[in-house]
Amino acid sequence: MLFQQKAPQNITLDPERIPTHIAIIMDGNGRWAKKRLLPRKAGHKAGADALERIIKDCQQLGVKHLTVYAFSTENWKRSQEEVDAIMDLLRQYLKNYFKKFLDDNIRMDVIGEIHRLDQDIQDSIREIEELSKTKDGLSVHIALNYGGRDEIRRAVCKIAKEIEDGNLTATSITEDVISMHLDTANVPDPELVIRTSGEERISNFLLWQIAYSEFCFMDTLWPDFDRACLEEAIYYYQNRERRFGGR
Ligand code: FPP
Repeated sequence: MLFQQKAPQNITLDPERIPTHIAIIMDGNGRWAKKRLLPRKAGHKAGADALERIIKDCQQLGVKHLTVYAFSTENWKRSQEEVDAIMDLLRQYLKNYFKKFLDDNIRMDVIGEIHRLDQDIQDSIREIEELSKTKDGLSVHIALNYGGRDEIRRAVCKIAKEIEDGNLTATSITEDVISMHLDTANVPDPELVIRTSGEERISNFLLWQIAYSEFCFMDTLWPDFDRACLEEAIYYYQNRERRFGGR
């Protein structure tokens, strides 16, 4: 587990050991807004802008997969006004901003149970997934109405159905079979998970996939997260010894 310490002033990253997959819990939008006496939705807008910048930075650094926690299965409990503001932002980004990434060879998809989202948002998700499916630069996976336990529950249902249909037997269920029934099928597990805003929890994010991930908890509020913060997290990751249970 990595806790933020004082980073050396001039960080030099090893370009050969950039994590293939970084996952981020983007936390602190509300506090960022509160500090500025702004409504919470202004914090989410600033958070969406930060995400746009970090996508470009990850692409430039050679990261292959970026998974971001944009809306959890628990986030529906927020006020209707805030849920609507986040959904409006998402709508805007899916319809406009994210399309700009197509020119940068960026692929986008969504993990989570999208059927609870408004139909026009679902349509925009399918459109951007289709338009970007042949891109082979950075893949951005946006977690929407996502919960790690819910993802595992849905994978178990799919496996049970295959057993019912006679296409799978109980004894042939390996870890790979489970991985392939998750929303992240074919995506390597994240080597590095970052959470901003000083909170040190996983909050139901990628529960299966983070078995061997390194964690970097940083004090920065998400809207302030920039290239320097990203490089700092990667620096700490590169200075960890990863043993995967071995010695
Ligand atoms: C956590 O901050 C953030 C969220 C629940 C929403 C994350 C959403 C974005 C960054 C915008 C994403 C937009 C697109 C277009 C994908 P918080 O509200 O829990 O902050 P707080 O803990 O300080 O209150």
